[in-house]
Amino acid sequence: GQDNADYLISRIRSVQGFPKEGINFRDFMPVLADPKALGLMLDALEAALPVPADSFDAIAGLEARGFLFGPALAARLGKGFIAVRKAGKLPPETIGESYDLEYGTASIEIEANMVGAGERVLIVDDLIATGGTAKAAADLIRRAGGVVAGFSFVMELIGLDGLAELGDVPSSTLVTMP
Ligand code: PRP
Ligand code: HPA
Repeated sequence: GQDNADYLISRIRSVQGFPKEGINFRDFMPVLADPKALGLMLDALEAALPVPADSFDAIAGLEARGFLFGPALAARLGKGFIAVRKAGKLPPETIGESYDLEYGTASIEIEANMVGAGERVLIVDDLIATGGTAKAAADLIRRAGGVVAGFSFVMELIGLDGLAELGDVPSSTLVTMP
């Protein structure tokens, strides 16, 4: 209900000017640190899945913050977890993509054999801003032979139109904020 939504939102911290001037950094670490908020967040992600749980096979999470709840959500749903890592961390063979961030550039990688042919994957992350990270992850999953079934985010920064980067794939977001 609304009380639970309000409680979850109350645990999101906002830090003006981090990591750069002009950025209002939305920080969900206090959600993770609070047992009640952590449970509410996982319940809400499960309730808001953009596609039914039986229509995907695995969850892919984005380093670092998609790693902090993706495996917990996957375990609840009886799925496996695929790690999409920042470049240079995984042994060969890897597939990589570079992309622009709201505050910089980055490259991500997956292990090429981690995604089965035609495997349907839900991509999860804490936050979508420009959408560059989520789009790069989707491109990686597809290049590895998988199908992107949907995206689940905890937070969406409005005004950046990040969801427009994701094409015609269903997505869900728990909290939208400027
Ligand atoms: C943040 C956030 C998303 C991404 C969103 O991660 O956790 O992954 O940026 O931005 P975008 O929609 O503009 O691509 P960051 O790259 O800061 O890495 P971290 O989780 O390792 O701190
Ligand atoms: N918070 C956390 N991660 C982010 C943000 C933010 O406001 N913008 C881009 N990545």
